[in-house]
Amino acid sequence: MNNLIDIMQMSPEEIQDLINKAMDIIANPGKYSEACKGKILATLFFEPSTRTRLSFESAMLSLGGNVIGFSDGKSSSAAKGESVSDTVQTVGCYADIIAMRHPKEGAPLVASRRAGVPVINAGDGGHNHPTQTLTDLLTIYREKGTLENLTVGLCGDLKFGRTVHSLISAMSRYKNVRFIMISPEELQVPRYLITDVLEANNIPYQEVTSLDDVMPELDVLYMTRVQKERFFNEADYMRLKDSYILTPEKLRTAKETLSIMHPLPRVNEISVAVDDDPRAIYFKQVANGKFIRMALIMKLLEVNA
Ligand code: NCD
Repeated sequence: MNNLIDIMQMSPEEIQDLINKAMDIIANPGKYSEACKGKILATLFFEPSTRTRLSFESAMLSLGGNVIGFSDGKSSSAAKGESVSDTVQTVGCYADIIAMRHPKEGAPLVASRRAGVPVINAGDGGHNHPTQTLTDLLTIYREKGTLENLTVGLCGDLKFGRTVHSLISAMSRYKNVRFIMISPEELQVPRYLITDVLEANNIPYQEVTSLDDVMPELDVLYMTRVQKERFFNEADYMRLKDSYILTPEKLRTAKETLSIMHPLPRVNEISVAVDDDPRAIYFKQVANGKFIRMALIMKLLEVNA
């Protein structure tokens, strides 16, 4: 595997190897500090980002490598009309590996065919976000000690939330995982995930509108932001944006062992009063993002420490 475009390119065994590598990096960071010496990562971000881009850059720097790139397509020749394919053919001459985020679904796949170096999908439109899923899986594994036997609640914008799409696909392969998908009707998970992933593999799932009703059943609660930038009209966004707001009161019926996750950024979905609850692990999730990306960069560049 030379690219990571879709999380389903990785088998559960490969994901477990990557999790193990990330845990070793966490335990022995010094061992990896020169693993990518002389290598260059390019971060090509055509959409806003804080965590994904900076964690990729921090990951490469912590591996002893270097980083180039842009954080806004408007500052690249894309603003002059250059195609994604020409941009990555160019960047492939300057970098050993590329992490790319783009508003168009499929752009990183196109890029991977032209770059001549490994390409990582750092989020493509409302489609997929495989490295957030690796982050989420490492986080769940560190928290629960397993990726099996879990009831996972996904709440918010399940239609446009790309992190949710990749997470459902990835987690559908672990034993005895059940999904409860909590959203307004307009923001339900795309049908292809229901038919091709959940029903095709006989995975138990429910689609509900009330978070309160299902709260006591959940082992993981994955909150998401309503994806304003993917709405066609402002009025719909305004109507739906505050559909779910997690507060300490709402958590009263939750399990003691619940893990509250969020890919971030949050807008209103989780009240800051929840941050002090030991079950809130979204900032642990942020930290894990760097370590799993270090492991991924090493894997794609085929380097060892
Ligand atoms: C997410 C994304 O970009 O899809 N953020 C992230 O990468 N951690 C979630 C979001 O923007 O809501």
